[in-house]
Amino acid sequence: MLNSHLCSIFEYLEAKLLQIFKTFTDLREQLDSGQGSVGFVPTMGALHEGHVSLVRRAAAENTRVVVSIFVNPTQFNDPADLEKYPRNLEQDLQILESLGSQLFVVCPAVSELYGDRLESKIYDLAHLSEVMEGAMRPGHYQGVATVVEKLLKEVRPDQAYFGEKDFQQFKVIERLVALESIDVRLVQCPIAREHHGLARSSRNELLSPQARRDAGVIYAVLQQIKKDYQAGDYSYPFLKSKGIRELSKIPNSRVEYFILADEESLEEIESLGDSTKVRAFVAVQLEKIRLIDTLNYQE
Ligand code: PAJ
Repeated sequence: MLNSHLCSIFEYLEAKLLQIFKTFTDLREQLDSGQGSVGFVPTMGALHEGHVSLVRRAAAENTRVVVSIFVNPTQFNDPADLEKYPRNLEQDLQILESLGSQLFVVCPAVSELYGDRLESKIYDLAHLSEVMEGAMRPGHYQGVATVVEKLLKEVRPDQAYFGEKDFQQFKVIERLVALESIDVRLVQCPIAREHHGLARSSRNELLSPQARRDAGVIYAVLQQIKKDYQAGDYSYPFLKSKGIRELSKIPNSRVEYFILADEESLEEIESLGDSTKVRAFVAVQLEKIRLIDTLNYQE
């Protein structure tokens, strides 16, 4: 008797905690019928502690929180990457449910967002689409901007939460919001890391256990070069080649870039002292899986 009573309380609580919407039309109806600030966390699913930290922050700062789970085809320049991108909706929902906050989760179909034109809009992203991830993944940021514009216009949040890990993406979204005059406050949240320092990423699941351990070196190198940078005894070319050399020692790795750049312009520095807001950016392929990371060198 008591047990079944408890069960129904839990069912009630769960039903109340997580409300899942398959379309934005249904989500909007729900949002329009309530009150209070809306925080929004856009994701592509395969949720991990990084996503969770964004959701917690959004829940702490808003009356209502929307999480979207949508693997956006237009931001994948490589069809194989899109195909192998991890998807696990059931586990994602369990993770969200375990957070104990009331959440609205929207999992739209490709057709609702794109109709029958599965293509990116073209934005003037200037140099943002030409450096680092922009250079390595042609069209990637046009796809990101396209889907984020659609998502922001559907959800109409007061605040939207993004991770520092994708620092360049955050810059793209800041530019998008300015270009399209979207009324939203963008919040950047710190990088959640695995215990050995690897930045959490949905892609980490695709690594072998050994490579996942080895990948801790990426953060160690970012920190080591930061120390060298702050000591001020070395030239930028020296630091850059040392970083690349150390990263190349990771078995089965291919370093795509390791650079220091100005946080605002994302232009690579030429020598120390070029910028007062320096940040390191790295992209490494490990077992053909792309991993990115970044670290502020000023603080
Ligand atoms: P996704 O890779 O799922 O990431 C969703 C959000 O989680 C992004 O803002 C990302 O920066 C943040 N995030 C990822 N790893 C993190 C970590 N280790 N610590 C803190 N935050 C982390 O980024 C995307 O999806 C997509 O490009 C999207 C913006 C949803 C558009 O499709």
